[in-house]
Formats: sequence, C-alpha cells, structure tokens
Amino acid sequence: MARILLGVTGGIAAYKACEVTRLLVKDGHEVIPLVTPGAERFVRAETFAALARRPAGEDLYQHLTRADLLLVAPCTANTLAKLAHGLADNTLTEAALAHRGPVLVAPAMNPRMWAHPATRANVDTLRTRGIELVGPDEGETAEGEWGVGRMAEPAEIVSRAEQLLAPPSLAGKRVLVTAGGTREPVDSVRFLGNRSSGRMGVALAEEARRRGADVVLLAANIAVPAPIGVETIPTPTAETMLEAALALEDVDVAILAAAVADYRPAEAFATKRPKTSEAWTLELEPTGDIARALGERKRVGRLLVLFGAEHGEEGLERKRRMLDEKNADLVVYNDVSRPDIAFDAAENEVVLVSGDGERRIPKAPKAVVAAAILDEAERLLAARR
Ligand SMILES: Cc1cc2nc3c(=O)[nH]c(=O)nc-3n(C[C@H](O)[C@H](O)[C@H](O)COP(=O)(O)O)c2cc1C
Repeated sequence: MARILLGVTGGIAAYKACEVTRLLVKDGHEVIPLVTPGAERFVRAETFAALARRPAGEDLYQHLTRADLLLVAPCTANTLAKLAHGLADNTLTEAALAHRGPVLVAPAMNPRMWAHPATRANVDTLRTRGIELVGPDEGETAEGEWGVGRMAEPAEIVSRAEQLLAPPSLAGKRVLVTAGGTREPVDSVRFLGNRSSGRMGVALAEEARRRGADVVLLAANIAVPAPIGVETIPTPTAETMLEAALALEDVDVAILAAAVADYRPAEAFATKRPKTSEAWTLELEPTGDIARALGERKRVGRLLVLFGAEHGEEGLERKRRMLDEKNADLVVYNDVSRPDIAFDAAENEVVLVSGDGERRIPKAPKAVVAAAILDEAERLLAARR
C-alpha cells in the first residue's frame, strides 16, 4: 500500500479531511497528516494523528518525508496560491516543494474566491505543472451561498487518489477522442452548429491521459481548454474531422464524443451574403459518417466507442442498433431532451450499451462519467485479448 502525505488547510471542510484520513487508513495506506496552523483553528492536528494512528509532529524533518502521493484536502485559496508560487512557510508547503511524485489537490472555498481571476490563474499554473485537481463541486457552501466551491466528497477524493497511485492501466495504448461541435460554413461568417461545448470529450481525453494512454484529441470548436499532455488537432468541420480521423495511424481505442453535423450546406458562399428582402433557402447535403468509416476500418482487438445523442427511450432503442450498424463495441447513450445533462452542461448521465449488456451511469460530473466510460472500455479491451 502507499505512503500518502495528507495536507489539511484552514477551511470548514477540514472536518471532512478526517473522513478522507479514515478511508485511506481503512484501505491500508500509511497517512502522514500535515496540518497547517490555519487548519488547526478548525480541527486539531491530534485528531488526524489519531485517525492516521501515528504520533503527531515527532519528526524535525517531516517536510522531507518521501511519499508516493501528496494529497491536499481541503486546499484553501491561500494554500493553492502558495503551491502555485512555490512558497514554503509551513510544513505542508515545504513538503510540497520537496515532494517528487503525483499531487492531488481538493480545493474548497467560497464560490467568489474560486471564481476570482487570481485563483483561476493559480489553478491554471498548477494544472500546467501536471497537478491533479478533484472538485470543487457545485452546491451550497457552509456560509449559505450557492456555487462552485464545495470540496469534493471524501469517497471521490480517495478514489481519485487511488487511481493516481495505481499503475497506468492504458500505458502503451493510443486513444483517439473527438470533442466539441462542428460548424458547417454557410458563408464566410455564418455557420450551422450545435450546442456541444466539448466538456465530455475533453474529460475523456484527460482521463485517458491520466491512465497513461497516448491521446490524440480532434477538437471541434471546444469551449473549454484542451487538456495538458494531449496532442490536440483542431477539426472545425465534419469534413476536417473525418480527414484527420482517417489520417491517424492505427489507434487502440477511438471514442467519438463530438457532436458532428449530419448535414452541411451544399454550397457555402465565399463572402458574407448580404441581407435582402428575399427568403433564403439553404440546401443541405449529408456529411461523411466518421463512425461508420472507423467501424469499417477497425482491426481485430481494437475498440470503437460511439456517443449517441437522442431523445428518451425510443432514442435508446435506436442507439442499441448502432452496435451492429456501425461495428461499434460500446455506445454511450445521452438523453439530450434533458436540460440538466449532456450538451453544454457540467454533468452527464448516460447508458453504456455493449454486446453483453447495459449499464446506467447516474448523474455525475463529466470527469466521473468519463472514468466510468473508460472503465467499461478497458473491460471490453481485456475481454478481446
Ligand atoms: C470561518 C472561516 C472559514 C474559512 N473557510 C475557508 C475555506 O473554506 N476556503 C478558503 O480558501 N479559506 C477559508 N478561510 C480563510 C482561511 O482560513 C485563511 O485564508 C487561512 O489563512 C488559510 O491558511 P492555510 O491555507 O495555511 O490553511 C476561512 C476563514 C474562516 C475564518
């Protein structure tokens, strides 16, 4: 089992770090709590020492302790800023500079503090450095405000920590992910598009990279930053995405999460079409079918995962047929009739349809849904072997 440095900082959520400690110890890990003076205003260091079953503050060089993972939960705006800038003014921030290995941070703060440009910049700095974040979640904060800032639940934090400690399950695999929504030009400034933000595809690319895969992301007008460490190719239209997908060398897993236009204007004006009093009729022609093309070329042992966006139960029935029609191995069914999930939403709820059954993934942040989809893909890959 692993040795984990657990940084606890000064927010109300410090009491939830007790549960994080308990779960980690229960799973057999050695936990070394590093409690900031700010956190001691909420929960005493002795509590963590007792839960971790070790004497408190016995080691003069505690900040130099070697560990498999540094986990900071909760992480205040203050400590997040210190981590981003390399300050070392308490045992936790000193340990963060001395630590070599994965770092997982669970921010917890007031939604206005989380949204502040200074915090956003600090988060970007940490992500660029390869530091993983879990949460924060949306909800009601202790002070009675609503927004994004609540610490992720202890069980989710522990599960992410254990994923980071696990050997990379997709090492040596090449994974293609498509994300976003294509825009089909009508003239030089107008297009036919859709509401896809690319969040689901980006979460999948991020998760596949985290599991050690070599990931290529075909990005169609994504509204969120592309993940660090992933080769990203801009593919704004259905045609450019099809070309890029076919040009890629053999991939082990292709996950088509982008919302690709089924139709495009038969003719796009080269310049901006001026406004007249006449009606304007557009003729639409079908676009190429990326899923079908990849399904036809799929080699033995490879996996094709398709997303299907439809309405209600009849939509699900149509998606079941996609397994055979497109030679797919897994279909992720998205009910786009609901405004709270799927298109342009932070959360999703899907049904995973494969040849050997169906599994409903309950509503959760897209990162959690991405992990469930990749778990299923890995299970199917293992069954192919
Ligand atoms: C009641 C109370 C609750 C607080 N909760 C948070 C919080 O949830 N997140 C946060 O970033 N700061 C919070 N703060 C502010 C931090 O405690 C303060 O920035 C402190 O310097 C953090 O020190 P540390 O990061 O070294 O633990 C809170 C302060 C008070 C008085």
